[in-house]
Amino acid sequence: MKPTSLLQLLCVTSVLCYTTDQARLTVSPSSSQLFKGDFVTLSCEEDDSSAGWTLRRNTSKKQRTQCGDGWGKPAGSSCNISYIDPLESGVYWCESREGAISNMVNLTVSGGSVILQSPVLPVMEGDDVTLLCQTKTTPSNLPAAFYKDGSLIRKQPTGHMTIQHVSRSDEGLYKCDISGHGESPSSWITVTGDTLTCRPPTSPAYGAPAHEKSLLYFDFTLMCYLVVFCLHFISTLLKGSSSQSHR
Ligand SMILES: *[C@@H]1O[C@H](CO)[C@@H](O)[C@H](O)[C@H]1NC(C)=O
Ligand SMILES: *[C@@H]1O[C@H](CO)[C@@H](O)[C@H](O)[C@H]1NC(C)=O
Ligand SMILES: *[C@@H]1O[C@H](CO)[C@@H](O)[C@H](O)[C@H]1NC(C)=O
Repeated sequence: MKPTSLLQLLCVTSVLCYTTDQARLTVSPSSSQLFKGDFVTLSCEEDDSSAGWTLRRNTSKKQRTQCGDGWGKPAGSSCNISYIDPLESGVYWCESREGAISNMVNLTVSGGSVILQSPVLPVMEGDDVTLLCQTKTTPSNLPAAFYKDGSLIRKQPTGHMTIQHVSRSDEGLYKCDISGHGESPSSWITVTGDTLTCRPPTSPAYGAPAHEKSLLYFDFTLMCYLVVFCLHFISTLLKGSSSQSHR
């Protein structure tokens, strides 16, 4: 192989390698708590579908099971669960064929009549967060009490509560209560101060080991150099072909 084509191959493969190892898991409806019987779509938003991202989960019964393997209906890199059960509460994530993983999401399915609609993804420091206390049977919002780490924080006549400009101190275990209907399960709300626009797939909020993070940043720097190098290389190549006598 000529050295020039080898270099081209290197450029292409390194850019491809970089773009194939990222995915972000989103949940629709976007809530960390669901009612038994709800329809849920979990989606791996990926840069490259050829990496083969699939959904996996750990529940109290079974670990690392894949969507379609006894639960859910795979649809590309998404997964539909048409009638979710309380036993399906657990940790969900996307995993590529090579073993790269996305962010993780905790889902709690309630067999009761009250849920707390809280963010399924970590909340950015400074953002506003709205929590909604919902009953299964009543469509309109009823007065609700909100608790953080076991203590009452607010009673809201409208059933929803907004925390403005969240900070790290708002992180904790939340639940709500609607009198006459019952109490919701508890959900952990994570607040992250990471404001980088190019976040690694496992953000520090999920406790990515330090060596993994530095490796990702190294990857990013390397990719920048490669892109610049490729552009330079291609322009040199073009110049070369337009004037064969060059050099
Ligand atoms: C899922 O379960 C496996 C096997 O028990 C464990 O190794 C892994 O850490 C768990 N993953 C999560 C995200 O809890
Ligand atoms: C999954 O659900 C979406 C709607 O959220 C629907 O458009 C799609 O057809 C479903 N796919 C499968 C395989 O059931
Ligand atoms: C999921 O829930 C467990 C137990 O409450 C908690 O330790 C873990 O940090 C949660 N993970 C995420 C991604 O929120």
